[in-house]
Amino acid sequence: MKYLVTGAHGQLGQELQKLLQERGLSFVALDSHQLDITDRTAVLSVFATEQPDVVLQAAAYTRVDLAEDEGRVINWQVNVEGTKNIADAAK
Ligand SMILES: NC(=O)c1ccc[n+]([C@@H]2O[C@H](COP(=O)([O-])OP(=O)(O)OC[C@H]3O[C@@H](n4cnc5c(N)ncnc54)[C@H](OP(=O)(O)O)[C@@H]3O)[C@@H](O)[C@H]2O)c1
Repeated sequence: MKYLVTGAHGQLGQELQKLLQERGLSFVALDSHQLDITDRTAVLSVFATEQPDVVLQAAAYTRVDLAEDEGRVINWQVNVEGTKNIADAAK
């Protein structure tokens, strides 16, 4: 069983990696530079290459102070469209 962790440098991504390591589970963890989840082609390519069994989607736009104003567009791109890219690739 192979796990894929997105948003690997974030708080949740790092905690998930610790848990996977502690349990000796096989995983690949990618930060935003290694995999931008808004890049649909890149997401599909990573899934094709890594063939994960389980995806732990920890990539997110988390600037809640900006999310409804100047961050609205990037919020939608990452949290809605990016997460949809992950879900579609997982299908
Ligand atoms: N922390 C908690 O206690 C907690 C609890 C429950 C649920 N959650 C949920 O877990 C998710 C992550 O939260 P967090 O606390 O870990 O936030 P975080 O520390 O801000 O981490 C989010 C990570 O997502 C990355 N990211 C942003 N845009 C991206 C993109 N386009 N492609 C790939 N990666 C991208 C960021 O990369 P950069 O560092 O490069 O910006 C960052 O490393 C959120 O949905 C949050 O609601 C968190």
